[in-house]
Amino acid sequence: MFELTGKYEKISRQSLKIISQIAYDVSGIILSEKKEDLIFSRLNKRLRENKLSSFEEYCIFIQSNPDERLQMIASLTTNVTAFYRERHHFQYLSKLIKNKFIDRIKDGEELRIWSAACSSGEEAYSAAMTVSDVLIPLAVAKIKILGTDIDNGMLGRSREGVYSIEEKNSIPLEIFNKFCIEKENQFTFKKDILEKLRFKSLNLIAEWPFESKFHAIFCRNVAIYFDKMTREKLWLRLAQRLHVGGELYIGHSERISNPDMLSLRPFGLNSYKKVK
Ligand SMILES: C[S@@+](CC[C@H](N)C(=O)[O-])C[C@H]1O[C@@H](n2cnc3c(N)ncnc32)[C@H](O)[C@@H]1O
Repeated sequence: MFELTGKYEKISRQSLKIISQIAYDVSGIILSEKKEDLIFSRLNKRLRENKLSSFEEYCIFIQSNPDERLQMIASLTTNVTAFYRERHHFQYLSKLIKNKFIDRIKDGEELRIWSAACSSGEEAYSAAMTVSDVLIPLAVAKIKILGTDIDNGMLGRSREGVYSIEEKNSIPLEIFNKFCIEKENQFTFKKDILEKLRFKSLNLIAEWPFESKFHAIFCRNVAIYFDKMTREKLWLRLAQRLHVGGELYIGHSERISNPDMLSLRPFGLNSYKKVK
């Protein structure tokens, strides 16, 4: 047992073990021993909301309550994101469309991009603005951007598509002027952008209920929370969902150790091209 300040003063090793195991089984997230303080402080609120008086009670509660398990995962994960985060990936995406796929899109192929683990949606909207900017002359281009996450609260915010004006600074000004609409202290997107996006609940370590292939996949800053086995399986499944010539963008502290075996060729920063 160890003690921490707060309303609930104790969390036993046993409760920590149960919580970590459930987090791993449900989402693939590894909670190391070092995360004790984080688990305690983030889950305190879940105990209060469920009117439970101890972590032992909470452990019993989550075992029979799938919704609360998802709430628990949401409380334990970070949702930090930003428009045009790791900007080079959006430059690669723009080049990919111009240099590789534009003729196929002109001929009617639907352009499909996936923001896997999209959090509050900034990555998906940045991708939508990037490709729309390239494809503006092709008024009829069909563009579909899919944003997915395990956290339903974040998906709600993504679908709403309304952001605080402070986030405007992350968007290049000419892009903002072309695709965004400012209202009071917030902004949203023009209809043309909004209608290209769909946000769906998806657990990356579970079944994916779609067969489609994508021209580009963003899967950034989520695999970092998984163990090696879960990460490698994820890279393989993502590689299988890319069109030949398509690109996978991963987070700045992530790396694919065996890209050849997945028919991926590394290039630039944290980026991989599907070669066959
Ligand atoms: C740090 S955010 C990354 C957001 C964005 N990709 C970026 O790089 O800016 C991590 C996201 O991963 C999501 N996540 C964690 N485990 C997941 C899982 N098993 N399946 C799907 N999403 C997951 C979290 O809900 C969170 O929104």
